[in-house]
Amino acid sequence: MAGRFWLLAASLAPAAYAAVSCGGGTQCPEDAPCCSQYGQCGVGAYCLGGCDPVNSFSLEACVPAPVCQSQTYKFDNLDGIVPNTKYLGDASKADWVSSGQPLEYDGSVLLTMAEGTVGTLLASTHYVWYGKVGARLSTAAGAGVVTAFILLGDSKDEIDFEFVGVELESAQTNFYSQGVTDYHNGGNTTGLTDVHANMHDYEIDWQPDTITWSIDGKVVRTLNREDTWNATANRYSYPQTPCRVQLSLWPGGLSTNGEGTIQWAGGLVQWNSPYMENGYYYATFDEVSIQCYNPPSGANSSGSKSYVYNNDAMTNNTVEITNDNTILKSFMATGLNMSAGDASASASASGSAKTNNPESVPGLSGGGTGNNGQRGGDNNSDGSSASGTDSGSGSATATGSASTGFVQGGGSNGGSNGAGQIGGNSEAVLRGSLFAVVVALVGLCVL
Ligand SMILES: *[C@@H]1O[C@H](CO)[C@@H](O)[C@H](O)[C@H]1NC(C)=O
Ligand SMILES: *[C@@H]1O[C@H](CO)[C@@H](O)[C@H](O)[C@H]1NC(C)=O
Ligand SMILES: *[C@@H]1O[C@H](CO)[C@@H](O)[C@H](O)[C@H]1NC(C)=O
Ligand SMILES: *[C@@H]1O[C@H](CO)[C@@H](O)[C@H](O)[C@H]1NC(C)=O
Ligand SMILES: *[C@@H]1O[C@H](CO)[C@@H](O)[C@H](O)[C@H]1NC(C)=O
Ligand SMILES: *[C@@H]1O[C@H](CO)[C@@H](O)[C@H](O)[C@H]1NC(C)=O
Repeated sequence: MAGRFWLLAASLAPAAYAAVSCGGGTQCPEDAPCCSQYGQCGVGAYCLGGCDPVNSFSLEACVPAPVCQSQTYKFDNLDGIVPNTKYLGDASKADWVSSGQPLEYDGSVLLTMAEGTVGTLLASTHYVWYGKVGARLSTAAGAGVVTAFILLGDSKDEIDFEFVGVELESAQTNFYSQGVTDYHNGGNTTGLTDVHANMHDYEIDWQPDTITWSIDGKVVRTLNREDTWNATANRYSYPQTPCRVQLSLWPGGLSTNGEGTIQWAGGLVQWNSPYMENGYYYATFDEVSIQCYNPPSGANSSGSKSYVYNNDAMTNNTVEITNDNTILKSFMATGLNMSAGDASASASASGSAKTNNPESVPGLSGGGTGNNGQRGGDNNSDGSSASGTDSGSGSATATGSASTGFVQGGGSNGGSNGAGQIGGNSEAVLRGSLFAVVVALVGLCVL
């Protein structure tokens, strides 16, 4: 369903605002060369994780992706989690990039979703190109509330575990190839003991020829690459390119989402649900483990640090392992000039004084970002954005989360955009169409 979400976001994006959109063959211009995961053009963080090489100005606009690293993340604290307004691509200094509001709780990380926000997303800084990835988690409960543990490539190859908050005995499995919507790929494992009340171990074992999904050590689904041949596309519709691990909680049941998505999510989110505690819905991730497999035999390798694509077919044989640098010098830099800007240059958000600058953090501000979700998110006091120009963070308080007494940003893969940034500068900030819609909605809630 996350796959469907990208389409949804893309279709909503151009409606109201002239943020530069990309996707479906429409490439970004040279001065904002990177096409974000959400189909908007920018620089800086737009060129990092999620950057879509095919719809960017050129394949090289997207920054090389840090290679897989085997590790277990215990989430005993939030030290490895860095907001997307601060991450410039150094995976040795951060494990996860966040949007929204992760919280530490009793040796686990809570992904929260307060009223008026679009939840929380954690994306791994390292990519995985085949590996065994496990997560021990309990889901959020409630209509319209979706918890996800997925692998998502810049190619939009995708392997999912998803949990709808009204089906507490089920886990849905799914996969997508290059973001092509195929409603026949979904699976539904039932008979689980309450996935909200109980932690379960979910595992995706992703190999070049098979994917298995397991729950508590028991295989619940197997997919063979051989069974995915698509003669039209002349390739296997099988996830085959490097993916980030994404953990998220998002509102499938927002009235601004498509009817199909709302129904799938079990109805509209209720912002006064008993499932909200301390003013927010939450999913709890206790541990994530990543065991990398060796690169496939025949992989084009000239190094050991980063993945790049050398062809826009985005199939397994177009991935190359290089020693290319993964770190931008500033939020003004791109894969085309990684040293552009100086280190003190900040994340630019629209709505700030620097209105002519290209967007630099997807979802942080109206413009492109807003479209889906991923916005800056930390709490007011730590000045989340790398700069004073960021109108994104903190402003969430103005959105409705204020009423909950909980300070946080919005943003996540959820799809809409950050309910965040409304605050005092709404005029300047209201740029993305979906963003605007969400803001309006939130405004109503607040009033
Ligand atoms: C999964 O199965 C359960 C139990 O049969 C059912 O209630 C639920 O609607 C199913 N969900 C989907 C998405 O098919
Ligand atoms: C096969 O690939 C074509 C072209 O990408 C796509 O339109 C179609 O939906 C795919 N079919 C399936 C079953 O995935
Ligand atoms: C890519 O996948 C094909 C099957 O479609 C396989 O034969 C080939 O070995 C793979 N190459 C790499 C580098 O993974
Ligand atoms: C490996 O990558 C290089 C550089 O992009 C390219 O020139 C070469 O053709 C690739 N080799 C294979 C076997 O794909
Ligand atoms: C990259 O950016 C730096 C700093 O802005 C600039 O000095 C340099 O000329 C740029 N390089 C290229 C190749 O454009
Ligand atoms: C907000 O950030 C400050 C500084 O990082 C921290 O001390 C405080 O606990 C945070 N508050 C919340 C609610 O996360």
